[in-house]
Amino acid sequence: MPSVYFQTFGCQMNVADSDTIYQLLSQRGFVISDCPDSSDLVVVNTCSVREAAEKRAKSRITEFANKKKGRNQQLWVTGCMAERLGGRLKELIKGVDLVIGAKQMERIGEVIDSVLPQNESSPAVFGKSPVTDFVPVMRGCDNYCAYCIVPYVRGREQSVPYELIEADVKEKISRGVKEITFLGQNVNSYNNEGIDFPDLLLRLSAIDGLERIRFTTSHPKDCTEKLIEAVSSSNKFASHIHLPVQAGSDRVLTLMNRGYTSARYRGLIEMIRKHIPKADITSDILVGFPTESDKEFKETLSLVRDVRFTTAFMFAYSPREGTTAASMTEEISGEQKQERLAELIAVQTGITRSIYKESVGEELEILISGRQEKRTAAWMGQDRGCKRVLLSCTSVEAGMILKVRAVESSGMTLLAERIL
Ligand code: SAH
Ligand code: SF4
Ligand code: F3S
Repeated sequence: MPSVYFQTFGCQMNVADSDTIYQLLSQRGFVISDCPDSSDLVVVNTCSVREAAEKRAKSRITEFANKKKGRNQQLWVTGCMAERLGGRLKELIKGVDLVIGAKQMERIGEVIDSVLPQNESSPAVFGKSPVTDFVPVMRGCDNYCAYCIVPYVRGREQSVPYELIEADVKEKISRGVKEITFLGQNVNSYNNEGIDFPDLLLRLSAIDGLERIRFTTSHPKDCTEKLIEAVSSSNKFASHIHLPVQAGSDRVLTLMNRGYTSARYRGLIEMIRKHIPKADITSDILVGFPTESDKEFKETLSLVRDVRFTTAFMFAYSPREGTTAASMTEEISGEQKQERLAELIAVQTGITRSIYKESVGEELEILISGRQEKRTAAWMGQDRGCKRVLLSCTSVEAGMILKVRAVESSGMTLLAERIL
């Protein structure tokens, strides 16, 4: 049987896309491989969001291209950088056989058919399913935040019809999946035939066997009380809201084209905590946007201190060709961006640690995702929020939801004991 090795960079959308590509390949007899050297096909699914992400992908592709010389191996490059660079990638890196841009994911079946016809005699081969999985509910993005490449490489926003989402969910549940994270660049603007995102969530929560529901990303400009009420209506919903703030200064937020003010954002946090007092709220924060002053950066720091995110992804601004921000004169030096980023990370890490400490003694409901082999504790899971939990205990299986008590926090992990 032919084998395929996947290397996936970027966000969860890319993880979901790699899975889709794998499903199609498995219908053509491919099995997954964990060894790139001996596999017949290598797929590198790429990200373009920051320059560093592209650099990493390029060096990995070059490595694969060099290794395969003289061997009968195919090298495919897919995803957002493949979309941005297109055919140029083949010239840039000799040895790339096929480039499939992110926008082609809509018709990926046809694309793969054109290079690998379906072979009736090869049955689909599915690996063991994980306990948690992703289902995209929308593709693309129409928001055009000034710094962001995603709308250019992913195309216009499109909501997936409910019937297709439901079929996808049921198929995954039948393979043992317990928790699904519904994906979109801005899930809050989901709309298909009059079904908005809160309606969609309520319908999904009625599906038997779907035990836990997560979603990402919520855009603050479209985050409504109706959404949070839906989330607090059933304990199938994780108590976790990822709500990227990006910056704390209103002038910077306007330049970024984010569509909300710092006060509005703080108001949303209050509203979420009113309905879900124990919610883990997490964020994405970007420092060093062109013209961001030191005082404006301090506004980001004070927002971070006030809101107390459980965790946050923090980035230094990286100019992306073709975006509005790329044509603004960049006044922040690389050094200054790195200094601001380090200061922000220090503040947020302190907050994360103290939030984890505060959880010690609490009763948690965790979904076991698998064994944790590297540490002393035997099982790994996640609570209803976003916290990682380790549990040392016997007679446990992946997929179980258990009541545990947090007994210790070690940085960004909780150690727990089972409550019998
Ligand atoms: N759709 C999501 C995020 C997609 S990109 C949202 O709207 O929040 C993930 C994160 O990467 C963004 O939230 C932002 O913080 C960061 N990011 C995007 N473009 C960037 C750039 N040019 N430089 C640095 N970070 C960037
Ligand atoms: Fe990028 Fe903004 Fe769209 Fe998120 S909402 S993907 S940050 S343009
Ligand atoms: Fe995701 Fe990177 Fe593309 S963040 S949408 S893989 S540019």
